[in-house]
Amino acid sequence: MLRGIGTSPRQTGDEKCRLRHILKDATGDALVSGAKRKGDMNAKMTGKPVTAATLMRAKRDDQKMIWLTAYDASSAQLAEEACVDVLLVGDSLGMVCLGYDSTIPVSLNDMIHHTAAVVRGRKRAWVVCDLPFGSYQTSPQQAFENSVRVLQETRCDAVKLEGGVPMSDTIRFLSERGIAVVAHIGLTPQSVKKFGSYGRRGKSSEERDQLLRDATAVCDAGAVALVLENIPHELAAEIRASISIPTVGIGAGPDCDAQVLVWHDLLGLSPSNPPFAPAYADARTLMCKAITRWGDDVRQGRFPG
Ligand code: KIV
Repeated sequence: MLRGIGTSPRQTGDEKCRLRHILKDATGDALVSGAKRKGDMNAKMTGKPVTAATLMRAKRDDQKMIWLTAYDASSAQLAEEACVDVLLVGDSLGMVCLGYDSTIPVSLNDMIHHTAAVVRGRKRAWVVCDLPFGSYQTSPQQAFENSVRVLQETRCDAVKLEGGVPMSDTIRFLSERGIAVVAHIGLTPQSVKKFGSYGRRGKSSEERDQLLRDATAVCDAGAVALVLENIPHELAAEIRASISIPTVGIGAGPDCDAQVLVWHDLLGLSPSNPPFAPAYADARTLMCKAITRWGDDVRQGRFPG
């Protein structure tokens, strides 16, 4: 069932965004008086650029941060207009934009091309680029060299990589050299060939214990945030309580510090959504209707008028 924005818990946040624009117009000041209530003092109310420190502060102050994937400049602009805090150029790019059946064929050049476009479209959001499969697993040095390419050629803010304990040396290597790293555990789509499905992780007690060890390892190694994908909600809550960095949930329940969704899933552009990613609009039908109407007008000689 499609969930309308009007019925969603996000309405409060959306109203705040609209309010901010209205009040900003009236006062000429991005930080409006009366906006100092708990929950209002994040970067979206101040208009300041989001940084890794903003994410840490939001966790400390118990404020939810909004992450959304973006793949080009126009989606970056639109997401910012809707007060998204973090734009993740996910390697989901391969599946939702490039027509691949998994994220595995996505190249570093693909990621750089799209991340640079997102950076050109953003004003204040924090931009994270996924390191694609094969671009970081060989060695910490390989991960460093490819992260340097990403940061220099796109001007984004952070890189994301999949894996827990086995990636902790790499995360430490990058972090000690000044790179902001977001880690990603639970369902890790780059390992789909190993697991054989995109199913839920952390269901058995062994997997659960491993994920807790993974979370601690990436946090100790210096990751600045941790994506938790498709794991039991109680486990996500336990991980969130046990580490000092923000957790970003997707199919991981309501207790994470932030939530992320894939652009196409959120807007109803995907042919089908994962069960944990409800569509908040039916943009696929809307767009298809507009294109059909225009095509009919052309065929009938009504366009151009
Ligand atoms: O690639 C991606 O879009 C992601 C999100 C689903 C977290 O990694």
